[in-house]
Amino acid sequence: MNIIKLPLLFVIFLVHCQSPNVISSLAETGPIGNEAMISTTHPLATEVGLGILQKGGNAIDAAIAVQFSLSVVYPQAGNIGGGGFAVIRLDDGTVATLDFREKAPQSATKDMYLDADGNVIKELSKIGHLASGVPGSVAGMWELHQKYGQLPWADLVSPAVNLAANGHQLTEFTAKSLNNKQRDFIKVNSYQPWVVKEEDWNKGDTIYQKDLATTLSLIENKGRDGFYKGIVADLIATEMQSGGGLITQKDLIAYEPIWRAALKGTYKGFTIHVMAPPSSGGIALLQLLQGAEKYDFKKLGHNSAQMIHIKTELERRVYADRATFLGDADFYPVPVDQLLDPNYNKERFSSILEKKATLSTEIKEGTVNVIESIETTHFSIVDKAGNSIGITTTLNGNFGSAVMVKDGGFFLNNEMDDFSVKPGTPNMFGLIGGKANAIAPEKRMLSSMTPTIVEKDGKLFLVTGSPGGSTIITTVFQNIINVIDFEMTLHDAINAKRAHSQWLPDVILIEENAISEEAITTLEQMGHQLKFMPEIGKINAILVRPDGTLEGGPDYLRSDSYAIGY
Ligand code: DON
Repeated sequence: MNIIKLPLLFVIFLVHCQSPNVISSLAETGPIGNEAMISTTHPLATEVGLGILQKGGNAIDAAIAVQFSLSVVYPQAGNIGGGGFAVIRLDDGTVATLDFREKAPQSATKDMYLDADGNVIKELSKIGHLASGVPGSVAGMWELHQKYGQLPWADLVSPAVNLAANGHQLTEFTAKSLNNKQRDFIKVNSYQPWVVKEEDWNKGDTIYQKDLATTLSLIENKGRDGFYKGIVADLIATEMQSGGGLITQKDLIAYEPIWRAALKGTYKGFTIHVMAPPSSGGIALLQLLQGAEKYDFKKLGHNSAQMIHIKTELERRVYADRATFLGDADFYPVPVDQLLDPNYNKERFSSILEKKATLSTEIKEGTVNVIESIETTHFSIVDKAGNSIGITTTLNGNFGSAVMVKDGGFFLNNEMDDFSVKPGTPNMFGLIGGKANAIAPEKRMLSSMTPTIVEKDGKLFLVTGSPGGSTIITTVFQNIINVIDFEMTLHDAINAKRAHSQWLPDVILIEENAISEEAITTLEQMGHQLKFMPEIGKINAILVRPDGTLEGGPDYLRSDSYAIGY
């Protein structure tokens, strides 16, 4: 048994008085817009996106501007040194998905994180130069602009240049994140990047990022070549050489984002559009929704023991499939059709017992405690023409590898840890994998990022997504159940407490105060192990209401998220 409840006795008491299954909130909805809506994890990035929409840019233009702005104001996850995925739905119903996930460098090898005895070298795939994959974000934004952009490229990058050059004030959340990472910043950088500070960073501190402004100006003026060629590419390659990393100019020039056919599924009459591999999120979400189809969650009760049990059992099976079958489909024959076949899933979920946990005992347990210091970010935008986009983007861990490119002013990712560095050895999210997700040159590492667009009757209904590593998939799953099964406003659907499980480790993570003492006891009697967490996921979503207005869904209880509509 692993129940953390001591520091929260008082809070638990208060919540019990209100009945934990009732979602209480003063406001009933998130912000409402008649025409357009934007929800991101930082108020300044949201304002930049809004400015682009008001200037006549479409949702894709706004997304590009938000991505670059987040690299300035949200350096723990917003990035130009990382990667991500975009799911787009145009007003005419066209759906497109762009993969700008990082790739393994050309000289990467399957066993690059193992010592001579075949043991994993601690932290090598997590911090420092060797942890970085070839970044995809700038090429991704460029590609989005080539295909869908309306405003000039420079107009979309310049707000970020201004924010970097003219300074902005730290939020409390980012100040804390910077303070928590000091040891790694000092350890992996050969010089003293601006993030290193003797005294603590504080909310309201103004930071100026001159080097980043210069890098962004090069991107502003030269497009993708401003990053993958010339000065910035040289800075990255030099940084890599000085710290024992692998990325070269050749790797950078060779990087290409990929338009992939979206995967499509249904849930209780709704249509779901998601990313194909190397995101595992799409397949896993569609499998979960197939399994959930037959359950009347409303009848079971929101976050009741029975609902959490069923959800856990579905998740246990889907994450087991993820570990074995999923990887970059350009390198490994991922059985996509079979995993999405309703007959396969019917059979897969048929062993679920209504009142008893199935144990995940075959493979040794992973660890989950690292989930406390991680960051990714998702943002959602709908423009006045009805075009929509959801982007989830990341450096992987908080500030990625912690390496800030000298004179470039930006962090490089530690996405290599998303590969299975050794079969059966858990990554920083406790996820295990094998051959399908083994390292190979130029292969993309498997991701859990799940930007998702839901349609109702052929019209846009929901744009959603979240950070949270392995918990992303189940966070999006719950968001969809909350708005569809429980008919919650987006505000309530996002505020509602979350639970997560992933086959291994064999435990249910539950947000503190999410369920009653009675439900805890019932779940334990069924054979489940529980572990309580302060929070799971940080959604930024947009819901189309029955009257056609747009409800913004910033996860303001768990982050600095901010949505604006008009
Ligand atoms: O692609 C993935 O699944 C991970 N690199 C995402 C990391 C993440 O969400 C960290 N944050 N909260």
